[in-house]
Amino acid sequence: MKIKNICCIGAGYVGGPTMAVISLMCPEINVTVVDLDKEKINAWNDPDTSNIPVKESGLTEIIEKVRNKNLFFSTDIDNAILESEMIFIAVNTPTKTTGEGKGMAADLKYVISSAINIARVAKTDKIVVEKSTLPVRTAEKLKEVLLENARGNIKFDIISNPEFLAEGTAINDLFKSDRVLIGGEDSIRGKNAVDALVKIYEKWIPKKKIITTNIWSSELSKLASNAMLAQRISSVNSLSALCEATGADIDEVSKVIGLDKRIGPSFLKASVGFGGSCFQKDILNLVYLCRKYKLNDVADYWEQVIKINDYQKSRFSQKLLELANDKNITILGWAFKKDTNDSRESAAIYVAEILINNNMNIHVYDPMVTDERILLDLKLLFQHKKFSDAEIQKKLSMLKIHKNHKDALLSSNLIGIVTEWDEFINYNWEEIAKKNVLTVIDGRNILSERLDQVKNIKYFKL
Ligand code: UDX
Ligand code: UDX
Repeated sequence: MKIKNICCIGAGYVGGPTMAVISLMCPEINVTVVDLDKEKINAWNDPDTSNIPVKESGLTEIIEKVRNKNLFFSTDIDNAILESEMIFIAVNTPTKTTGEGKGMAADLKYVISSAINIARVAKTDKIVVEKSTLPVRTAEKLKEVLLENARGNIKFDIISNPEFLAEGTAINDLFKSDRVLIGGEDSIRGKNAVDALVKIYEKWIPKKKIITTNIWSSELSKLASNAMLAQRISSVNSLSALCEATGADIDEVSKVIGLDKRIGPSFLKASVGFGGSCFQKDILNLVYLCRKYKLNDVADYWEQVIKINDYQKSRFSQKLLELANDKNITILGWAFKKDTNDSRESAAIYVAEILINNNMNIHVYDPMVTDERILLDLKLLFQHKKFSDAEIQKKLSMLKIHKNHKDALLSSNLIGIVTEWDEFINYNWEEIAKKNVLTVIDGRNILSERLDQVKNIKYFKL
């Protein structure tokens, strides 16, 4: 089947950049990205592209080239479904907060409601692409939902095409993917559906990097890839505690480990703990699935990756509390990693929670995350922990967000580095240390060379 029109439900961090790149590389295909969130769609359509809601290097340039030519952003979900032969589902799949699997399983309500909508509206056959990260065997459930709600004889082919892009490097990752994964049903229709998507990616991805598998392998590979990446970080983070106890240096140990070709150097950087919308959610989901299939030992194994991540956030916070000599602590960085305004599951939120619960006033500076977001992150966490409104107000009054780094650095003499922003290295630390004697605990180990010789700064690695 030749695809002329694509619809993508979900104009978020994954849907937006992915569709922008498809539109650029396939000028003959019309791509419409739809979302329930009107404000988000307005922002994607803003003539001033600096206001588009996802900040990724290279994205604005692509939007300027293709928007309103063959890339459209709209809230008219039904019309986009009607007109498209292929529909991507890229809505969010957060961890469930209620019901069976609460706190562990992925909440599929948005995926299911999108599927119901597709089935109710469609008047012609559709290829439905799972782009959201989903538990293995979700396609089965989707098929049921599509069939139950379909009009007449309309046929749906479900394929799985998980996204491997990382935030901050999304555009580069999309252009130069290590692999593109497409899973489909083992039938003629299934193969045709997979082929239709292969043809799209072939426009810029070498054929040997496009991997086609059965649908269950594709769904599970995404969870497994994220679990393996996170497991490397937890492994190295667990060793960072042993380094501290023994006088070994975690960066040196990590470098030596990574020089073994069989291991490789990526994802071995010790940190205050991994964050982001995927790792924790996907591992919890994996653990939940293992338990569902009664593989409790396997579930325990993967759960340990999360436990070490929590341990690391708490170890870092305890270090700050031990070194505090008054009630003020500065947190530099709120995003879950550098070069993004995304703070979902950022270690900063949990560090701030521990510090505030220990009656510390915290001063925060981040170059990209907005004040509203920082406040909301903490408010939602305290609400989730069932504090009363009055208690939450009191706790939030201990948070001060600073507009520039100098004010944040002059507001306390104990600094915790939480995000690895490059600009932190370039600050005039000498000047700041003249005004304020500082202790710096580096949750990213990025400043050891920079602060080594600076007078009036006591520096601690993680
Ligand atoms: C994606 C994936 O889809 C998720 O499964 C993966 O694990 C992480 O990346 P992401 O793009 O980061 O999610 O989510 P988000 O930025 O929240 O975007 C999802 C969008 O879907 C939101 O803009 C939301 O408004 C929209 N949405 C949600 C709908 O349009 N309809 C719905 O029913 C639900
Ligand atoms: C991840 C996967 O990398 C990507 O393939 C998948 O599609 C989505 O989830 P993302 O969450 O955007 O991407 O960022 P990533 O670069 O993987 O970083 C995740 C977290 O791990 C961040 O908090 C980062 O700071 C941390 N990290 C990463 C470390 O602490 N140490 C490392 O060595 C690498």
